[in-house]
Amino acid sequence: MQKPKGTYDVFGLYGKKLKNIEKIIESLMEKYNYEYFRTPIFEQSELFHRGIGETSDIVSKETYDFKDRKDRNMTLRPEGTAGVVRSYIENKMYSNNVQPVKTWYYGPMYRYERPQAGRFREFYQFGVEVFGSNSPLLDAEIISIPVYLYNILGLKNIKVKINSLGDEESHSKYRDALMDYLKPHISNLCFDCQARYEKNPLRILDCKVDKESEILKNAPLIKDFLNENSSTHFESVLTALKKLDIEYEVDYSIVRGLDYYTHTVFEVVSETKLGTVVLCGGGRYNNLIQELGGPDTPGVGFAIGMERLLNVLESENIELDINTTIDAYIIPLSEEIRKHALVLANSLRLNGFVVDYDLLNRNLKANFKQSEKLNAKYVIIIGEDEVVNNYVTIKNNHTKIEEKVKLEDLVDYLDEIECSCEHCEEDL
Ligand code: HAM
Repeated sequence: MQKPKGTYDVFGLYGKKLKNIEKIIESLMEKYNYEYFRTPIFEQSELFHRGIGETSDIVSKETYDFKDRKDRNMTLRPEGTAGVVRSYIENKMYSNNVQPVKTWYYGPMYRYERPQAGRFREFYQFGVEVFGSNSPLLDAEIISIPVYLYNILGLKNIKVKINSLGDEESHSKYRDALMDYLKPHISNLCFDCQARYEKNPLRILDCKVDKESEILKNAPLIKDFLNENSSTHFESVLTALKKLDIEYEVDYSIVRGLDYYTHTVFEVVSETKLGTVVLCGGGRYNNLIQELGGPDTPGVGFAIGMERLLNVLESENIELDINTTIDAYIIPLSEEIRKHALVLANSLRLNGFVVDYDLLNRNLKANFKQSEKLNAKYVIIIGEDEVVNNYVTIKNNHTKIEEKVKLEDLVDYLDEIECSCEHCEEDL
């Protein structure tokens, strides 16, 4: 049996790195005072059709759809925003005491895409959605989250690319102008662009095939169609980013692949030897909540792809702060004594130490080898004499100093001793 195409298993060092980043995300979200949110992995298909848009690639080509046993149309979520908006409306969070409602989520998403580097069929997103504020400061706050996260992780060569799609009035004027401009050229564009022309002409602007064509380079720019309200909003977002010392590049080709955006849209890309990797995408969606049956409430958010983040960290050789050592490894000297090893291991674990013990009945030499593989700072040996007289023999695996310590003093002993060998000094 093999895993389904476009999926992957997590274990070993990758798992440790992932857990480390998840902890950093949790702590960052606590500082921003965002609340953790979880929605189902599957929803009624209609939510995504109405939310993300029929014409988007995601809904038209990439969803995992199925019928449940009562013949209802269900879809594995391809992204997080639609589900969070559904929940916000269903739980009437627009009446919450605390406004705006600031949420974050983390979980798997499903898109039937052609698997390739950084593109999976099951992938994880860390995302944020905030409801109830029109402030451009919020747009800047939202953009600051991925930027700070990447800074904390030590990622360099990060670029924020930002654009404004304006409000509905600006957007539709631009759409008309773009269609007029593209009409005589459409047969020279790729097949996908020809299909996008009627349905969603803005998407032609970020076509990977025609990106460099003169036709697209000379297309009208959205900035010339923004009404006053839209351009004031956009300018204020850019000013706030400057105040936060966040560098950005205004890129008029950023239109995003989901239909719900209004005003600010942005991507955070990493420029590495892997090429340009889109690590994060997001923006404002001031009409989506109403379109899905809620009150007229603005929303803004982003989502980060975890796999791409880990890929880029790897390609940049960025080490994460991962604990690859354990405090102690216990070696029982006979099968009879092994149960004492379990009891001692658990008692030390409950006292806060990272402890493991031999479960494979290895001989002493093999056990010392095992302790080295586990990077154990101490080896604790229990033989018959130790059990009868309530003590253990403990050996510092780095300095090789060996001592006998009474069982009742062991926790204090491990607590107090700070190994000052070269190895541990380096760790500090
Ligand atoms: P998105 O641009 O579709 O936006 O996805 C966000 C990020 O998820 C991408 O930048 C990428 O890092 C990652 N991603 C997308 N597809 C894949 C894939 N097949 N394999 C691996 N990683 C992938 C959204 O999903 C919006 N819901 C973001 C948002 C939230 N906008 C407002 N709020």
